[in-house]
Amino acid sequence: MRSQRQATAGRGRWRVGATAWWCWAAVVLGHLLSCARAGLLETNPGLAYNFYAKTCPNLDSIVRTITWQQVAANPALAGRLLRLHFHDCFVNGCDASILLDVAQSEKTAGPNLSVGGYEVIDAIKTQLEQTCPGVVSCADIVALAARDAVSYQFKASLWQVETGRRDGTVSLASNTGALPSPFAGFNGLLTSFSNRGLNLTDLVALSGAHTIGVASCSSVTPRLYQGNATAVDPLLNAAYAKTLMNTCPNPSPAGSTVNLDGGTPVKFDSSYFVNLQKNQGTLASDAALMQNAAAAQMVQDLTNPIKFYAAFSMSMKKMGRVDVLTGTKGQIRKQCRQVGS
Ligand code: HEM
Repeated sequence: MRSQRQATAGRGRWRVGATAWWCWAAVVLGHLLSCARAGLLETNPGLAYNFYAKTCPNLDSIVRTITWQQVAANPALAGRLLRLHFHDCFVNGCDASILLDVAQSEKTAGPNLSVGGYEVIDAIKTQLEQTCPGVVSCADIVALAARDAVSYQFKASLWQVETGRRDGTVSLASNTGALPSPFAGFNGLLTSFSNRGLNLTDLVALSGAHTIGVASCSSVTPRLYQGNATAVDPLLNAAYAKTLMNTCPNPSPAGSTVNLDGGTPVKFDSSYFVNLQKNQGTLASDAALMQNAAAAQMVQDLTNPIKFYAAFSMSMKKMGRVDVLTGTKGQIRKQCRQVGS
């Protein structure tokens, strides 16, 4: 009897293992197919997989170890590091300009005031400067840390990161207008993405990043109130609006936040898209995706987690190529917050 139970349990375990295996195989296959279709199996001139294979062979393990340690200690860092990469790439390209501590820098601009994760990048850079000094760009560290911030919960990378980016020397708050507004309508969002060489698929897939992390109440309250009165955005589900109001009263205390994915806020899953279909997108820009027929069809497709992971991976790679400095352009900073001499 006992051994029969064990055998059954063993078969059950095998079944779970096999299901997980098939799931990953499907992700990888879907991913390769979509990459091939988009020509992404070739690397970008100047960028390469394993760019630092000879010059800093331990790069991947150093970034992963530090990022996983920090995310384990503070799960909020997962969303912060992912957003940091996005805000870096959209302003001046993926050149680590967001990290610079100079007067009137990008960091000081309104949309970047709630960006974080800088200290994780500093910790990685400090370690790398001991192991392979003057070699790895801060821009590449930002891209790798974003991947590993997400990979922590899977203990496996969802996407591969090309490296070989170099660091910029200019960081201006006045350039941050390139970031999309959370109050933008569909056309505004699409324009902001196409200005960076990204298309409708990228817009919808990358918006799925809002499956983790938080927004300041001030990014949401304009959908709930007008002055002292309640005035709920008609695109918002009434019950979800009440939940948001509980978290973000009028007025909301300074610094208060609300989860972007009301259901599974720390899980990197496809529930963001399920939420959108129920009119439970948290930001007006999330809800805007349902206002365009083609985007709404993609939202439907990406409710399938395997399709979401494949599409997200592909679009992250595209985003990671935006206006990169390679070859002899830019520089390799020794300290990510300061331009090198
Ligand atoms: C489609 C246009 C987008 C708009 C308008 C937008 C806007 C925003 C806003 C307003 C917040 C909350 C900030 C705050 O209020 O404190 C936020 C958070 C976040 N965004 Fe986006 N975003 C967009 C696309 C993206 C993309 C492409 C990514 C990454 C690939 C991303 C990743 C995140 C993450 C992870 C958070 C949570 C950050 C945290 O928990 O600290 N967003 N976004």
